[in-house]
Amino acid sequence: MKITVRNIEDTERLGKIIARCLEKGTVICLDGELGAGKTTLTKFIAKESGVKENIVSPTFTIIKEYEGKLPFYHMDVYRIDSEDDMYDMGYDEYIYSEGVTVIEWADLIKGILPEERIEIRMKRIDDEKREISIEGKGRVFEKLAGELSNENTYN
Ligand SMILES: Nc1ncnc2c1ncn2[C@@H]1O[C@H](COP(=O)(O)OP(=O)(O)OP(=O)(O)O)[C@@H](O)[C@H]1O
Ligand SMILES: [Mg+2]
Repeated sequence: MKITVRNIEDTERLGKIIARCLEKGTVICLDGELGAGKTTLTKFIAKESGVKENIVSPTFTIIKEYEGKLPFYHMDVYRIDSEDDMYDMGYDEYIYSEGVTVIEWADLIKGILPEERIEIRMKRIDDEKREISIEGKGRVFEKLAGELSNENTYN
């Protein structure tokens, strides 16, 4: 499905809807060019998921862990050299865990993404406007798709 957010408030609303759907082991993949809004959306999802700490862009650490209603793992794989490096960092233990994992630039590791995941692609239209496509597989994705189809804000 495709939605258009007009501004950052719409993105925050989307983050809240996503957060409400999350379960243990949910993996959210975020793609889109530099400055599309991947980290911004992650912050809103985290905030609504009970993460009190400020989310920072984890570019140099690849994986950051936060405490929320569920453990919240934020990855930015932009600088990863190979999918093998992900396993060296314990990738498996994060995605098959009791926590929620958000992966920026997930396309770069598409060979090792779990089948059940939510895929969000963000495209910058202008300073504030973003086109967002949301696809996926699995129960959490189905739940999210249902929630979004009931939401009139974006139409
Ligand atoms: N509707 C919107 N949704 C998300 N971000 C927006 C929106 N409107 C404006 N912005 C701004 O766009 C910028 C997005 O930056 P952000 O760091 O989230 O991008 P990113 O996709 O994570 O980039 P990178 O690839 O460098 O990690 C922020 O400065 C944010 O305030
Ligand atoms: Mg980012």
